[in-house]
Amino acid sequence: MCGIVGYIGKSPAPSILISGLRRLEYRGYDSAGMAVLEDGSIIVTKSPGKVASLQEKARAEWPSERFENASTGIAHTRWATHGPPTELNAHPHLDETGAIALVHNGIIENYRPLRARLENKGHHFVSETDTEVLSHLIGESYKGDLFQAVCDALHQVEGTFGIAVISAKEPGKIITARRGSPIVIGVGDGETIVASDASAIISHTRQVIYLEDNDIAVVTANDVEIRDLDQVPVTREIAELGYDSGATEKGGFEHFMLKEIHEQPESLANAIRGRLDFNLGTSVLSGMGTSARDLSEIQRVVFLGCGTSLHAGLVGEYAFEDLADIHAEVEQAAEFRYRNPIISRSDLVVAISQSGETADTLAAVREANQKGAFVMGLCNVVGSTIARETGRGIYLHAGPEISVASTKAFTCQVVVMLMMALKMGRSRRFSREEGIKLAREIERVPELVEKTIQQSDKIAEIAARYAQCEHAFFIGRGYLYPVALEGALKLKEISYIHAEGYHAAELKHGPIALLQEGTPVIALATDIAGKDKTLGNVEECRARGARILGVITEGDKEAAEFMDDVIEVPACHPLVSTIPTAVALQILSYHIAHARGCEIDQPRNLAKSVTVE
Ligand code: F6R
Repeated sequence: MCGIVGYIGKSPAPSILISGLRRLEYRGYDSAGMAVLEDGSIIVTKSPGKVASLQEKARAEWPSERFENASTGIAHTRWATHGPPTELNAHPHLDETGAIALVHNGIIENYRPLRARLENKGHHFVSETDTEVLSHLIGESYKGDLFQAVCDALHQVEGTFGIAVISAKEPGKIITARRGSPIVIGVGDGETIVASDASAIISHTRQVIYLEDNDIAVVTANDVEIRDLDQVPVTREIAELGYDSGATEKGGFEHFMLKEIHEQPESLANAIRGRLDFNLGTSVLSGMGTSARDLSEIQRVVFLGCGTSLHAGLVGEYAFEDLADIHAEVEQAAEFRYRNPIISRSDLVVAISQSGETADTLAAVREANQKGAFVMGLCNVVGSTIARETGRGIYLHAGPEISVASTKAFTCQVVVMLMMALKMGRSRRFSREEGIKLAREIERVPELVEKTIQQSDKIAEIAARYAQCEHAFFIGRGYLYPVALEGALKLKEISYIHAEGYHAAELKHGPIALLQEGTPVIALATDIAGKDKTLGNVEECRARGARILGVITEGDKEAAEFMDDVIEVPACHPLVSTIPTAVALQILSYHIAHARGCEIDQPRNLAKSVTVE
């Protein structure tokens, strides 16, 4: 989704803004722009396409001294919502006088009537965006105090916003505000950076302030003053970012996705560290925030998420039912928020979100809170909106996930849910010995994943045989059904191959009609309950000419007989096997996309953090 960077300080703003935008590229975007204050005026450069094009354009248009002299500016990467990704629609947008520039993430829902009113008053709009209305509103409200004008304008808009505003009439400050779209302020030494995401800040400072909804701040090079929209001063603590800038770089890997796949043994170890209790055979997850007694009173667990996080929730559903003997459900967050879900105080609602900013998941959290459920977050990004709004939860500790295609967040989500189910299971159902046994299996996860990653070259060879296909089907049963869905999502999003995940039994209820000679079917058939049935389904596919790639347990000769190609994952507990199996599919998708020459880290049309519904 869109990204914001603002800079005010002692260094040339344009180069800092450009490098900040580059760090936000992973979020997904299709145009970029920046505005800087220089010599009493605002200079704007915008470009469709990549940040590199914006940089070239700025260098061509601006004499180098203008680059050097500007020390205040704002910049943006836009992921088109209202109007196509053209230069005119790119941010920043100016007000009627051209003295005020604004960048905006989010959606102004009432922009049509506001635009009509402003047009009647003689305002001229140059773009199709909702955002331009806000810059004109600020200009219209301006009576010599930019802060006041932004407050007045924001009172008139409905929807979501994270904004940064500068004015030629008030140099030396940036006004920034948020509602439903994150803003982080990096507090440096004689410089301040405003951004929608800490990765644009980390190379300057680790001291950050997270704005809360309806906060508005005046930011100067040496100070940050925060109020609410009614101008009442508020205090926000300075937090320290828990990683350094190296974590957001490729570190010698060709793509972030590959780096993040390889990071999984470490990120999983971080997610597990200190959370398993081998003495009591349980897990230590203080973020669940409930006593053993409270846990035993929980009647139902509802997992909420979107995309990959939804698939992780599906694994959680199986884990909670099987290990903790508790009724569990998974809901698409986007559906949950618009239904009238039946939720009670004995429900535990777990919102799963890598970014902690996904609009649909956030809205679902608010709905569950309204209904009095016990809500907790499972987020990766520390200080993210969902993490803060749930007030309790468990961080994944996967480290920054930059690649649009989620890998390490998924496996960390699953391992954390296994630990949650272990804790629930121990308080409701199983013995210390059973708990210890499962804890030992969970402890092995980093090693199991490491062994799977070691097969990367072999998987690359197999991938080459499937790289030119147009369609692919992923099938699995039980615990491996969600992994089949996730495998298909991974393949389609980065390789653009049409891929579908199905329950192995479901294939013959329709989709099998699509199988032809050579159609790839990726069959997940590790040693779990239902494997034999899946092998039966594989036979049905083979009979229709499909080419079968099996993911099986290491050394399972019987299963291998059913397959044309096999990827082996180490033997382990059936629920735990979801993790190495998913990793094998991540590696497969990566190599297929690579062989097809796809833009792996920034797939078309996609964004890392989906902050619109
Ligand atoms: C796919 C992917 C997406 C996200 C989804 C939810 O690889 O990354 O499907 O899982 O957009 O994002 P979060 O987890 O940030 O809420």
